Amino acid sequence: MMVIPGPASLELGGRIASEMGVEASPVGHRLFPDGESYIRMTGRVEGEAVVIVQTTAPEQDRRLMQAFMMAETARDLGAERVALVAPYLAYSRQDKRFLEGECLTLDVVMGLIECVGVDDLIAIDAHSEASLRAVEEKHNVRVHNLSAMPLIAEHLKGTGFDGAYSLSPDVGAIHQAEAAARVLGGGCGFFEKERDRKTGEIRMRVEDLDIEGRNAVVFDDIISSGGTMAKAVEGLKGQGASRVAAACTHALLMDEAEERIRNAGADVILATDTVSNPFSGVSVAGLVADYIRSHLNIV
Ligand code: R5P
Repeated sequence: MMVIPGPASLELGGRIASEMGVEASPVGHRLFPDGESYIRMTGRVEGEAVVIVQTTAPEQDRRLMQAFMMAETARDLGAERVALVAPYLAYSRQDKRFLEGECLTLDVVMGLIECVGVDDLIAIDAHSEASLRAVEEKHNVRVHNLSAMPLIAEHLKGTGFDGAYSLSPDVGAIHQAEAAARVLGGGCGFFEKERDRKTGEIRMRVEDLDIEGRNAVVFDDIISSGGTMAKAVEGLKGQGASRVAAACTHALLMDEAEERIRNAGADVILATDTVSNPFSGVSVAGLVADYIRSHLNIV
């Protein structure tokens, strides 16, 4: 088997390879002056089960295209099986037609992944499990969605948040706070978020919680503009929470997101290495490697 880290996931791909006990097989990569990508397989993939690791966080389109190029090339050169680890799966939030005429981007991405010959897609905390299952039925790709929430909670447990209250900023994502609460042991709950589909503006209904003087953690899949996280942190601090951590799997942290979250009162920001940045204190490499070995039987 081979682990091929794509240009967007050199570090995480290297970590997954090392967890699996193999040398990573990097690809040759450069960008042409007009922005197009060049990809060249440097290892021999013929007859191999290959695991391509490429996150698709911004710049999403380029990184998706590079993932397609790697998968198609591996297939064309005779790889026996292709698994794509896209730890952050771009376009997975537009999984429904919220307004008439909208493009179902998750469906488009999955169709392209199928087209380039990927057998298994592995994502971490992709936005909606139900939507993933729905697109899986339409396409000939096996989809595996792993959760990093217990790992994030374990890390927080060891850094002063043992017994902290776990909060989901939206009722639809309560399963994430529940998974974390099983580790932290301090109970869990949710606020209710509403996003204006045209302006993107967020309104949050803050429930009364018994958290005065207690530590708390907000768990979300993604921090993008930071609006959701900032409102949730503010809601907890407003009710007298002591230390509050803003935790997520994928810290995209666009524009002023970090500042917004800090200004809302967050004492800690923590994320995983699905997107590499100064907050990726938790690695998903072991989780992915174990899953590939035990569920995909690639060793
Ligand atoms: C959306 O439903 C997700 O779970 C996140 O809450 C959302 O993507 C975060 O976006 P932002 O940081 O822009 O509020």
